Amino acid sequence: MPNEFGETYDGTIYRAVGNWLGERYFEYGFARGTAQEVGFLAELLGLSARSRVLDVGWAIADEGLPGEFHVLDARFMEFESTADQAAICLCEGAFGLGLAGSDAAHQQILDNVFRALRSGGHFVLSAIQTSNAVRDPAVAEALDAYTGTMWEDEVIVDLEGQERQVAIYTTTFSFRELKLLLERSGFEVIAGYGCNVGNFARKPLTVDDIEIMMVARKP
Ligand SMILES: C[S@@+](CC[C@H](N)C(=O)[O-])C[C@H]1O[C@@H](n2cnc3c(N)ncnc32)[C@H](O)[C@@H]1O
Repeated sequence: MPNEFGETYDGTIYRAVGNWLGERYFEYGFARGTAQEVGFLAELLGLSARSRVLDVGWAIADEGLPGEFHVLDARFMEFESTADQAAICLCEGAFGLGLAGSDAAHQQILDNVFRALRSGGHFVLSAIQTSNAVRDPAVAEALDAYTGTMWEDEVIVDLEGQERQVAIYTTTFSFRELKLLLERSGFEVIAGYGCNVGNFARKPLTVDDIEIMMVARKP
């Protein structure tokens, strides 16, 4: 399939963008509502304070928190059976972000998460839903129909008020595409919910939901 974005845009820019934004990062909508999201996931996945959870594409400061933090590209993650209970990859935490619609790159991330989980472990993945994204005419115009990738020129501002323009590429999906990709990596798909930042719930999915939340299990 033609991919006008090619492999030249691989998502590595996000580290530089994150460093440049600093604390401003936490002002984005997706960085708020974390307490509600964590509460929902703990209940959904039966997590306790002792559970080892792999969070792919985190947004968090590591100071003083009990956990291991690794700066690496999720496509090349090599953990093996390290997450006993669950793995999460939320709000374009690598999956769907910057990978320019590359099926191989997205599959690679799912394969790596599958390897990192122990048998019986759960995986919660969220991704932007194509059917909702194209309701915005500007997005529809900028969406590559071959790869489902939308392109946005975003102005970001650092703590000193300095502006910088960055191109953001986000791959959008349908429930069925996500199910097929997850199954190809070996996962068993348990559920698909409509996903709203800061308001996670067992909400039946409709085509109007901005994001899809997939719940899967490693057999
Ligand atoms: C939109 S934020 C989502 C953060 C968090 N998961 C949440 O729900 O708020 C995207 C995160 O994914 C990270 N990211 C992007 N591409 C990545 C890649 N290829 N490998 C690992 N992390 C990546 C970025 O650095 C950023 O922290």
